[in-house]
Amino acid sequence: MESSDARRLSVSLVDVNVGQEPAFTAISAHFEAILIRKEYGRAEMVRDEAYPLRFYAVRYWTDATAAERCHRDLEVQALTEKLSHIARVTHVVNGVRPSETMRVLLDDRRARVEADRRAGFDRRIKDAGRTDGDRRAKRDRRTGPRRVRDRGGEVDLIGAARRARENADAAFSHFKVGAALETGDGTVITGCNIENATYGLTICAERLAMFKAISEGHRIFTRIAIVADTEAPTPPCGACRQILWEFGGNLEIQLANLTEEKGRHHLKNLLPLPFDARLL
Ligand code: THU
Repeated sequence: MESSDARRLSVSLVDVNVGQEPAFTAISAHFEAILIRKEYGRAEMVRDEAYPLRFYAVRYWTDATAAERCHRDLEVQALTEKLSHIARVTHVVNGVRPSETMRVLLDDRRARVEADRRAGFDRRIKDAGRTDGDRRAKRDRRTGPRRVRDRGGEVDLIGAARRARENADAAFSHFKVGAALETGDGTVITGCNIENATYGLTICAERLAMFKAISEGHRIFTRIAIVADTEAPTPPCGACRQILWEFGGNLEIQLANLTEEKGRHHLKNLLPLPFDARLL
């Protein structure tokens, strides 16, 4: 297998829920055993040094058809179903030749930068002629494309939410909110609140970002940043918590105002005892 050109490699990011590590260890041991017994390949679980509950599941497939057979395998599907209740799984690399892995990862990184640059470009076009946009537009331009990544090498999600907030249409409450949602492949999708004369048809920034993402085909989400111009953090409203939970699961929620971050939470702590499709 090691010397074969037909080998394929997949990598997934697994964020295990607190307290579920023993269950996760049992599931991954079972999965590894199936891979060997049915000659699909072998698996390796690498723990992230910075986040003890984050793992990288690396699968070395015998060849591309072995990967396909494994995905169709009912025993494997039952395990995957179990796993989905105790962890969030984000597919990073799917079935590439080992020699191509680096290129795929680098391409993905480029995609992240492109996505965010697009958001910045849209903002500048829309800002043209705005009475209150000039000072902000200049400040954002100065930070330039580099603003997409912060110190940790991550996408600047809060920056994207701040820019999205500038497009909020809050004619009735004058309370502008911006949101930026990160998908499993690193794309950033933004939203802002849009109000309506009937009030009730208003949509919040978070829900708009999530609906935009769903409508563009995204199904895996990692984090959302929410920005308002207030000293106290602005957490998502009840309706948004429900929508974020149903489509995004236990997202990380970053709260910030125009100048500083105000805290990070996990959605399951903001929505304890949630109602969702598992209860139908
Ligand atoms: N709003 C949001 O967009 N997100 C939140 O997290 C809180 C509230 C909007 C809805 C409405 O347009 C305005 O803020 C005041 O409630």
